[in-house]
Amino acid sequence: MNKSDLIKILSSENRFFGSEELTNSLNISRQGVWKLINSLKNEGYSIESVKGKGYRLTGLTDEITKAGVLSRLNSDRWNVSVFDSLDSTNLELLRQASNGASEGTIIIADEQTGGLGRRGRSFLSPAGYSIFMSILLKPNIPPSAVSCITLVWALAVYKGLIKNLKNSDKLNAGIKWPNDILIDNKKVCGILTQMSAELDYINYVVTGIGINVNNPSMDDSISDTASSLYLLTKEKYNRDILVADIINEFEGYYESFVESKNFAPFIDEYNSYLLNYQKQVRIFDGLVEDAKPEDIREGLCTGIYEDGSLKVIINGVEEKINAGEVSIRDLI
Ligand code: BTN
Repeated sequence: MNKSDLIKILSSENRFFGSEELTNSLNISRQGVWKLINSLKNEGYSIESVKGKGYRLTGLTDEITKAGVLSRLNSDRWNVSVFDSLDSTNLELLRQASNGASEGTIIIADEQTGGLGRRGRSFLSPAGYSIFMSILLKPNIPPSAVSCITLVWALAVYKGLIKNLKNSDKLNAGIKWPNDILIDNKKVCGILTQMSAELDYINYVVTGIGINVNNPSMDDSISDTASSLYLLTKEKYNRDILVADIINEFEGYYESFVESKNFAPFIDEYNSYLLNYQKQVRIFDGLVEDAKPEDIREGLCTGIYEDGSLKVIINGVEEKINAGEVSIRDLI
């Protein structure tokens, strides 16, 4: 915890912090301060040290770090672990959840060797650039309301990204129902929620979020449809800040969600970020790539319902479209 406290202090003002000031604030010895400073330097932080003046933070790390995330979180309800590499942060958290991990456990990895996407797809997860994180929740809501949690996360990711996005006024960022974040028509974030539940009771919910942040290029297999914040804005982003901003945003929404047990409080806000809103959409029953002509319908998207399903007017009739069953595309 001391390391994140030290980051918090050093990033609070752009000035030198004397050894004595730091020993007093952190309640540790000079030797302890020196050790923490070295450990932060090893993690890639740039810290200037001048005799008689103390230490000044001059640059953040490119790495994703536990202390960096913790130092920026608004509450201590989150228990964060950061791994260099995992098969999948969702799989790791599902394993931990089945062994009794508690609500608020967050797993982050710099790389995934078997990243999972929705509907059995894989999610490319190279080291060094992205955010791969999963969060464990145990909400007291009916299993039918779990799809709304994914939408709540989509709101939080959208808000966290927009807060940091350079030139956001010149970019067209928004949510593609149900939970992809797109910028200028390219996917930068995907969300996958998995759960363990009884018929009427949720044991736990694991939501995994994958964001392409500083990737200098995208794999050929996805470059037509996906991009990274770096490719879109030509700026690098600190991943610790993005993670913490997203979690802080989520916390604001989560309490009212658990109280309402549906998406009603967020419908207007979600619709305002919804890229499909008031657009003609094409609905594919099943996967886009497998769809036969008779599986494809068209209609006008007029927002979402309080259970998170999409409202589409097809041939003059309002229909409810459920996320698990269809894929949608805007008609240009
Ligand atoms: C999708 O768009 O299909 C959903 C992608 C979800 C990817 C994230 S990355 C972190 C977490 N771990 C996984 O294996 N998948 C999710």
